[in-house]
Amino acid sequence: MVVLGIETSCDECSVSVVRYRSEFEIEVLSLATFSQIELHRPFGGVVPEVASRNHLESMIPMLKQAVAESGVALDSVDAIAVTYRPGLIGALLVGVSTAKSLGYALGKPVVAVHHLEGHAVSPFLVERGTPPGNGVKPEFPLLIATVSGGHTNLYLSETSPLHWREDFLKKSLVARSRDDAAGEAFDKTAKMLGFPYPGGVWIDETAKKGNKDAFSFPRGLRAKEETDFSFSGLKTAFSLKVQQLEKAGRLEENIPDLCASIQEAIVDTLFSKIATQVSLLRCKSLALVGGVSANSRMRAKLTAEWRELGLSSPPLYPKLAYCTDNAAMIAASGAYRLLQGHAVTGEALLRLTALADPGH
Ligand code: KG4
Ligand code: ZN
Repeated sequence: MVVLGIETSCDECSVSVVRYRSEFEIEVLSLATFSQIELHRPFGGVVPEVASRNHLESMIPMLKQAVAESGVALDSVDAIAVTYRPGLIGALLVGVSTAKSLGYALGKPVVAVHHLEGHAVSPFLVERGTPPGNGVKPEFPLLIATVSGGHTNLYLSETSPLHWREDFLKKSLVARSRDDAAGEAFDKTAKMLGFPYPGGVWIDETAKKGNKDAFSFPRGLRAKEETDFSFSGLKTAFSLKVQQLEKAGRLEENIPDLCASIQEAIVDTLFSKIATQVSLLRCKSLALVGGVSANSRMRAKLTAEWRELGLSSPPLYPKLAYCTDNAAMIAASGAYRLLQGHAVTGEALLRLTALADPGH
C-alpha cells in the first residue's frame, strides 16, 4: 500500500510518499521538505501569516518533487494523508485544502492525521531500499515520549498503531507539561544567548564544548509523586544567570557551560519523569519522538541508562531526518488509519477541515 502524506502544521512544507510493508516497517519512497526556518529567523520565532503564505508557494513544488522522486504516479497512490490538527490554522488549511482537492480530483481516500500521532509512529519509518526485516521491534506496553517545540506528552501504547483506537492520543495520555514544552525551553533559553531559532540544535552543538555541572538550574516539579513536567521556571533562572554574567563581562566565555548546564536540566527533567512512568506502568519499550528526540545528550543518556529504567530493550528513536516535522510520519500514520478504514471520500471530503487545538 502506497500513501502520499502532506504536512504543513507549522514551518515545514513537506510532502512524502511511503510504502506500508508491515506493522513496524514503513518505507519512505520520497520526502520533499521546504523548511521556512530562514524566513522566520529575523523574527526570532514562527510568524503564522508568513508561514501560511509560504506554504501556498511551496506546496505544489514539494508535491511535484516528492511524486517524481518516489517513482510512483500520482494516480497510483492508494490514499492521501494530511495533518489536520494541531498547528497554525492558516498553515494547516493549505495542506488540508491540497489534500481535499487531490482526493476529490483523483477519486482517492483522504486520511486526516493528528500531527502527534505522526510523531508517535516515526520510529517505524525505514529508508528506501532497506532490506525487509530491518525495522524496529517494540515490546508492549510501550511508552511514547513526544517531545517537541509544542508538546511534551507521554503516551502509553498497549498495542501496535494498527490497533490504536480512534481516540488513542486522548485516552493514552499519561503525563504532559503544565506549561512550556521541552523544545520551547530550548528555544527560549537559546534566544537569550543570541542563538537563532530553533535554538535546540544550537544548544546541543555548543553544549559539547561545555561543562554540564558548571551552573545549577531548577528541575521542575521535582517531587516523585508529581508526574507532569514543568519547564517555565527554567526561563527565569536562566535569564537571571545570563544578566549576572553579562554585568560581570563574563557572558561570552561562559556560553558553552550555560548551554551544557541548561541542556542537562531539561534532559534530567525529561529523564526522571519518563523513568517514573516506565516504572509505574511496567513498560517494556520506550520510544522518544519529536524534534527534541534529535538531542544528542538525551539520546546518549537514554542509551546508557535504559537498563536501569527497567526496560527490556533499547529505546527507539526516529532516524534524525524524521525527528522534526516531516510528511513521511504523516503518511505512515495515514497508512495505519487507512488499514483501519478511517478515510474520507467523495462529497464527505467537503466537510474535512483543519483544527488548531490538539483535542486533548
Ligand atoms: O517536532 P518539531 O519539529 O516541531 C513541533 O512539532 O514542535 O520540534 C521542533 C523543536 C524545536 O523546539 C527545536 O529547538 C527542537 O525541536 N530541537 C532540538 C534539537 N533539534 C530540534 N532540541 C534539542 N536538541 C536538538 N538537537
Ligand atoms: Zn511536530
